[in-house]
Amino acid sequence: MNEKKILMTVRDLCLTYDASLGGSETEALSDVNLDIYEGDFICVLGPSGCGKTSLLNIMAGLVSASSGSVLMRGKHIRGVDRERAVVFQTPTLYPWISVKKNIAFGPDIRQVPESESAEKVEHYLKLVGLEDFADSKPYELSGGMRQRTALARALVNDPSIILLDEPFGALDAFTRNSMQDLIRNIWKETSPTIFLITHDVDEALMLGNRIVTMSQRPGRIIQEFEATFTDRVFDGDEDVRYTQEYINMRKELLTLVGYGKA
Ligand SMILES: Nc1ncnc2c1ncn2[C@@H]1O[C@H](COP(=O)(O)OP(=O)(O)OP(=O)(O)O)[C@@H](O)[C@H]1O
Ligand SMILES: [Mg+2]
Repeated sequence: MNEKKILMTVRDLCLTYDASLGGSETEALSDVNLDIYEGDFICVLGPSGCGKTSLLNIMAGLVSASSGSVLMRGKHIRGVDRERAVVFQTPTLYPWISVKKNIAFGPDIRQVPESESAEKVEHYLKLVGLEDFADSKPYELSGGMRQRTALARALVNDPSIILLDEPFGALDAFTRNSMQDLIRNIWKETSPTIFLITHDVDEALMLGNRIVTMSQRPGRIIQEFEATFTDRVFDGDEDVRYTQEYINMRKELLTLVGYGKA
């Protein structure tokens, strides 16, 4: 039985970008409906240009929908809020300040006393394995380390949900695997709610407890899957990806999102 509480509700969401800035009118999202429960790890899969980033931006409060609604704990979201942290594909770190100061940025602007925030900043620095790089500047870091910093900077504000837009897409395969392990461990150990966009079917299967597939633009949700592969990997079963169950779900997902043969 599912005793989990609903955290966010996306209802009948539509988005059409208008042509007022000189471009053409684009219908990006059509009738998107989704319930997100506390503690979910949702992975969203869909073809390029189907509206995934648009959906995330609306959920973050960065973009307004044309119609429909996004509720958080039953209330309409209004603009950006620290309850919803966003991690983009290219980390948007402040280049002139250190890793530690980047992570402390949110608590600093909220004027959290340093006595309170310092311990948390240290905790998240350690959690993402960057304690030896606390004083480095972002340009001195590798891509994976920058993304770790962005993750710590998101987590330190105790968001209710972390929205990630293809956060590992620009990383090499080894770094991507280690980032996937990191985010899985964080999810299993601290139970944040996670909404992660990816176009990588294996990433979705290896991370999410719910996998949501979107259609070609205008994006709508076509089907949703529940998966336990991430739990099994966490429990040490790395070979779960070779099971028939995994292979079957992979095939179905590939066909649904249009990467496989129809
Ligand atoms: N600010 C904007 N103004 C006008 N059109 C936009 C804007 N942002 C996105 N679009 C259009 O909306 C559609 C959906 O774009 P979006 O970035 O949400 O897709 P996506 O699924 O994230 O794609 P990708 O997988 O390539 O990142 C595309 O056709 C895109 O050209
Ligand atoms: Mg995108």
